[in-house]
Amino acid sequence: MGIGMLSLITGRAGPSGFGSASTAEQVTQGIDASNLTAIVTGGAKGIGLETARVLALRGAHVVIGARNLEDANKGKQHIMNENGAARVTVLKLDLCSIKSIEEFAKSFNALDLPLNILINNAGIMFCPFQLSKDGIEVQFATNHLGHFHLTNLLLDKMKRTAKATGIEGRIVNLSSIAHGLTPEGGIKFNRINDKEGYNDKKAYGQSKLANILHANELSRRMKAEGANITVNSVHPGLIMTNLMKYSSILMRIVKVFTILAWKNVPQGAATTCFVALHPSLKGVTGKYFQDCNEYEPSKLARNKVLAKELWDFSNKLVRSA
Ligand SMILES: NC(=O)c1ccc[n+]([C@@H]2O[C@H](COP(=O)([O-])OP(=O)(O)OC[C@H]3O[C@@H](n4cnc5c(N)ncnc54)[C@H](OP(=O)(O)O)[C@@H]3O)[C@@H](O)[C@H]2O)c1
Repeated sequence: MGIGMLSLITGRAGPSGFGSASTAEQVTQGIDASNLTAIVTGGAKGIGLETARVLALRGAHVVIGARNLEDANKGKQHIMNENGAARVTVLKLDLCSIKSIEEFAKSFNALDLPLNILINNAGIMFCPFQLSKDGIEVQFATNHLGHFHLTNLLLDKMKRTAKATGIEGRIVNLSSIAHGLTPEGGIKFNRINDKEGYNDKKAYGQSKLANILHANELSRRMKAEGANITVNSVHPGLIMTNLMKYSSILMRIVKVFTILAWKNVPQGAATTCFVALHPSLKGVTGKYFQDCNEYEPSKLARNKVLAKELWDFSNKLVRSA
């Protein structure tokens, strides 16, 4: 299953034929996505922008959901400069706000497009304690709860698209290797907004664990319904992006000692693009990938009871918000 640290450093390909050195363009070489529509959250910058660029390069109509429209339009321009035929639409999306998520879903539905692929990519990391617009700890709200609600709002459209076209729908949640560093028990259900016990690193790990649990629970639900939609999660690797803005000194120091384990942005978008588009993953669901190969995530991430508890808890939080 795992191809290990040595392969990460050397870039040696794993069983999929790809590895840590593979780029998003390489893993999607020759794939025709011109009959697909994809949403990429946080597609204005970083790994999300590269994901949007490569999906568009393969012909997909890409909808970038971004809270900063100026950045997103710059991102769109960056894609169009290289590929004038790219189909890219920008829509406002602030994952910290239930209202904004609902407006995004409404605007997307108004476009009357199909929906084949949803990339839950946007994220923030290691920020000081803060509450979202709906009063929820901001890393949990942005990284998990916003995507949980967005996915539920778009699911009907994805199911209808898959049914009408016969093409498998795919949902990809961007998690992280940091899903292994969490508060005790994984998710602080009773103290999610607890400022006193807040640890910025563990709050990030908690939200990234939630990304995997969400993908796995949704995958089970899609299977039970017989919906032609797969749901997987990925760790993109270590990539120096704006994600490090709250920890730039720490991450630069870490990078000095772990330089060989870092990737560039095209490599960072590879696992997402591989899981979203590659034909070899047809029917593969409820799995966790890194370096374009399947890995086993932490024990907590594989806990079905915890995944169900998170599902119910998230529904309750959305309703109360
Ligand atoms: N880079 C890494 O080493 C690494 C490692 C493991 C996992 N990941 C995961 O990969 C994903 C992408 O990270 P990245 O490195 O590409 O980071 P990035 O360059 O900071 O991009 C993140 C994107 O998410 C957007 N975003 C943040 N909060 C948002 C909100 N409330 N509503 C809508 N969009 C929001 C950001 O927009 P703004 O510019 O407006 O904030 C930005 O466009 C994240 O989920 C991250 O956890 C990254």
